Amino acid sequence: MTSRVVFVTGAASGIGRAAADAFVRRGWSTALADLNEDAGNAVEAELRELGECAFFRCDVTDDDSVKAAVAGAVGTYGRLDAAFNAAGIDGEHGKRTADSTMENWHRVLAVDLTGTFSCMRHEIPAIIDAGGGSIVNCASTAGLRGAPTVSAYTAAKHGVVGLTKVAAKEYGRAGLRVNAICPGTVDTPMFRASMSSFVDQLVAGTPVGRLAEASEIAEVAVWLCDGAPGYLTGEVISVDGGVGA
Ligand code: NAI
Repeated sequence: MTSRVVFVTGAASGIGRAAADAFVRRGWSTALADLNEDAGNAVEAELRELGECAFFRCDVTDDDSVKAAVAGAVGTYGRLDAAFNAAGIDGEHGKRTADSTMENWHRVLAVDLTGTFSCMRHEIPAIIDAGGGSIVNCASTAGLRGAPTVSAYTAAKHGVVGLTKVAAKEYGRAGLRVNAICPGTVDTPMFRASMSSFVDQLVAGTPVGRLAEASEIAEVAVWLCDGAPGYLTGEVISVDGGVGA
């Protein structure tokens, strides 16, 4: 295999799916990792029309599952050059900190923070073995500021930003760049499931005057792996339509 290889988590839906599509179109061999087998297989079937990809079932809350999926990608394609960690959940909405449940806290932290850590643990050695490359973590604007009534999500995404910065410092000399993207409000199944009643309010507060398309986040992730300068690492890039300006 001569094409470069990327491992995308959350590839069965939303931002991860859009990124997988963009990587495949650019000729990357793309490992589609997700918990949702039916949707993952459907995305594989669709994207195979465009280029090389393969689905690997992966639960990011289970380190052995992540290890097996990364090993599967390396076994299939012979190397790993990049990863986009987009698997995530938002959890409960509408409850202030003292009213939020422990169950929600543990679930959201397990997927969004521990899951990203687990992915990085297995992606880093594989990418360094290939001579270096790029990891992009999908955080959120909730990783930069307090997002009322989603304390677990906010804490997890702040943690993702922290993990990103640590790894950038640790592996810069090994040729690995690690950056995070902080999307604002993106029109995905996750967003529609929990935030649809707030669309007008959110759009009103967004300078660009609309929600983001998943492809607009995906394009930044792909650029960070394919074209961004080698000096760009440890950075946290907001793609929020100007909300944080
Ligand atoms: P989505 O719900 O459309 O896609 C998330 C994907 O992650 C799904 O395919 C799901 O099966 C997968 N997933 C969930 N738990 C998993 C697990 N344990 N192991 C493996 N895969 C798992 O959501 P969306 O909107 O595309 O979100 C992607 C990322 O972007 C998430 O990290 C989210 O926090 C982040 N984000 C989304 C924003 C939005 O407005 N949609 C805003 C800011 C950040």
